[in-house]
Amino acid sequence: MDFTLTETDVALQRTVREFAQRELVPGARERDAAEKFSPALFRRLGDLGLTGLGIPLERGGAGGGLVQTCIAVEELARQDPSASLWLLVSLSLTAVAIERYGTEEQKGRYVPPLARGKAVGAFGYTEPDAGSDAAGLQTLATRRGDSYVLNGSKIFISNGDVADTFLVFATTDRAKRAKGVIALIVERGTKGFTQRRQAEKLGMRASSTAELHFEDCAVPAANLVADESAGFKTAMSILDASRPAIGAQAVGIAQGSLDLAVRHTKQRRQFGQPIADFQGVQWMVADMATQVDASRLLVYRAADLKDRGLPFTKEASMAKLFASETAMRVATMALQLHGGYGYFKESPIERFFRDAKITEIYEGTSQIQRLVIARHVLAETPG
Ligand code: CAA
Repeated sequence: MDFTLTETDVALQRTVREFAQRELVPGARERDAAEKFSPALFRRLGDLGLTGLGIPLERGGAGGGLVQTCIAVEELARQDPSASLWLLVSLSLTAVAIERYGTEEQKGRYVPPLARGKAVGAFGYTEPDAGSDAAGLQTLATRRGDSYVLNGSKIFISNGDVADTFLVFATTDRAKRAKGVIALIVERGTKGFTQRRQAEKLGMRASSTAELHFEDCAVPAANLVADESAGFKTAMSILDASRPAIGAQAVGIAQGSLDLAVRHTKQRRQFGQPIADFQGVQWMVADMATQVDASRLLVYRAADLKDRGLPFTKEASMAKLFASETAMRVATMALQLHGGYGYFKESPIERFFRDAKITEIYEGTSQIQRLVIARHVLAETPG
């Protein structure tokens, strides 16, 4: 068992860390206040090759796998969690998904612009009545000649109002539930397809969120990803492969919160000494650091299993569950250590505290992760 990163991975980590400190930190607070996705910064992620991680070089990608994606996402989230979300939705939920399940024609057309950061991707799954119950999709896809005609709406779609390429899930027959789900690639600008921005989020405010509306929207049948019977399983395995990256985002948020807390406790003096000298504070720091490390190990274990082609669904859910709850807990402790200073926007800890919450909700709530883990444990363990 080897827990050390390769030299190439350390170089990637250093590059992303320096980029995030230099280019993300300066405007993070303003983008959060203005709820502003930055196309220019997204393109910079492309310049660095981050939008092509896990995608073969011949398709405009940067190679590597999920471990490398997690390294990049963690370092971005450590400084600006919203920017890590732009990347992981476009990459893990769209580009890598099309690369894995698309036809040669779909891969040739849609993956290179996404991999180079010239196009943004989004994953159109969640609906007003289909959140945790992923088989309950209501958006209808009706086959008419060479097209599928979409009618229905999506909600809470990350990158939704800035994306060019959407991986949209719909049902050919609501009564069939999971067996009726299909996946289609839908281009921005397709007739009958509109987006409506959803503003005023608690956290991840510099990420874009939108409703998607489809009204007699004809999508070429050639844009069907996987076959008609495999849509639900494709969605589930795309989510499996993305959950370690959400875990990495949560680790980045937790690590960023810990960094801020340590810096503050060394500077803040009370009772004639830095508060870092108090044992009560040190115990909090020790708990935070231990939980961050445990989360990181779970995340990299899940990503490594995936990259080696081994089963990883349970491990991905464990990583996502533990890391997201750690992010919330560590951000809460870090804010507590800032005292009143943490309650104002002057300190980034206030933003990390707000950003942490969504990691327990999207890509499967903590309750859904527990359900997935328990199903595996019960199936694996003899009665
Ligand atoms: N991989 C492959 N196949 C899978 C699978 C997986 N991980 N999980 C289930 N399946 C298969 C099952 O084997 C079953 O196949 P058969 O019919 O051949 O037996 C089929 O799919 C149906 O499975 P279930 O009966 O287990 O389905 P279910 O209705 O009980 O749902 C669930 C299972 C795990 C709860 C699922 O609904 C789920 O994951 N819900 C959460 C949805 C979610 O994560 N949404 C996030 C939206 S995207 C997002 O948040 C993006 C963002 O903004 C960043």
